[in-house]
Amino acid sequence: MAIQTPDKILIVEDEPDIALALKIALESAGYEPACAGDGETALKILLGSSDYHLALLDIRMPGIDGVEVLKRLRNSNCDVATIMMSGHGSEDLAVECIKIGAEDYLSKPFVLDDMLQRVDRARSHRLAVIEKKRLEQEREDFFMMLSHDMKNPMTAVIGSIDIMREGRLGPVNEEQVEYLQSAIDSCNEVVMMIDNLLDIRRFEVGKMQLSIQPYNPVEIVRKVATQFSRAAERDGIRLSLDLKDDVPGIAVDRNALTRIMGNLLGNSLKFTPEGGEIAVSCNCIEPPDLHLTRIPPYISVPTDYPDRQCFVMLTVRDTGTGIPSDELKCIFDRYTQSSSSSGRERGGAGLGLSFCKLAVESFGGVIWAESEAGQGSEFIILLPCVAK
Ligand SMILES: Nc1ncnc2c1ncn2[C@@H]1O[C@H](COP(=O)(O)OP(=O)(O)O)[C@@H](O)[C@H]1O
Ligand SMILES: [Mg+2]
Repeated sequence: MAIQTPDKILIVEDEPDIALALKIALESAGYEPACAGDGETALKILLGSSDYHLALLDIRMPGIDGVEVLKRLRNSNCDVATIMMSGHGSEDLAVECIKIGAEDYLSKPFVLDDMLQRVDRARSHRLAVIEKKRLEQEREDFFMMLSHDMKNPMTAVIGSIDIMREGRLGPVNEEQVEYLQSAIDSCNEVVMMIDNLLDIRRFEVGKMQLSIQPYNPVEIVRKVATQFSRAAERDGIRLSLDLKDDVPGIAVDRNALTRIMGNLLGNSLKFTPEGGEIAVSCNCIEPPDLHLTRIPPYISVPTDYPDRQCFVMLTVRDTGTGIPSDELKCIFDRYTQSSSSSGRERGGAGLGLSFCKLAVESFGGVIWAESEAGQGSEFIILLPCVAK
């Protein structure tokens, strides 16, 4: 949408003398004013064309008054800027109009210079609003493009490489399998990044669809960890599991929890050098077994936590690069990577942990990290149990 100069102004005023004075002043200031003598005519003009960029709207008019015109304009998709004109003594009404969405108001009798200044300001404001809308639309288009035009072909690429890797199109040697697998891993990383970005966006706009049901966390965690065991082996990293059998159920979205664990394990693999270790655990925590006190003070804990009988604690610990303590909080922010781990060099966009935090919180849980630079890191998730 091209930004046009808002030079056409509609004066909505039932008193011809005032309308004329405004018209002359606006014309001499380089604007292109037109007049409407009542609310009905004004609405017809403004809703019927997008030529007008600003309306000077008298509040008190016979028939549809200025407030009603303003309301109807704001309920339509007409984004004309409005400056209300109120008679002396009806300033309260003018303030009310600002709340409804008017840009400004003028009290009659007004000084023409002041009126022109306000018109100019409303015009700049309107340009900013149009620009904001344009950016929002661009963002929306970008997300649509990500999900449809990038993710779908990526999935097709993975499928084709996989067929080759399995030798279904002819024999492949060990080295070729390794290269094809690494191509698949890289594609999967991109898909994971797209998913993280899309889901963060869905959470933000309240459109994240979750199917929260009771699940046995051990089963989900074991499955994810198994998917990472081959990559760990290839990288010379020992992956161990400590999953208690009698852990109670938690209320989560299965797919989201799988992706949370996938992000945490993916990070541990990425930041742990060959010869290192990754340990995944799943335990039941019961007060007064107050592991709860491990929660860092900057985490806002749901108010019902002290009354809860039990929690499930999921942890992913590694012997990797670690994270400086002053960065433990901000790595969960979007696009944030720790200074110690040279994340950018290792790929990634700093979105995984943001997704994890939003998803864990949507299950009523908390997530935090513990680490010291060079000492490895541990990511801890605490989730209330459904029953025991
Ligand atoms: N296990 C880990 N060991 C060391 N640093 C980590 C670990 N997990 C996360 N980080 C740090 O947190 C940052 C953010 O992680 P994340 O949100 O998953 O983004 P990305 O993996 O795309 O960089 C990483 O770039 C890294 O600096
Ligand atoms: Mg990551």
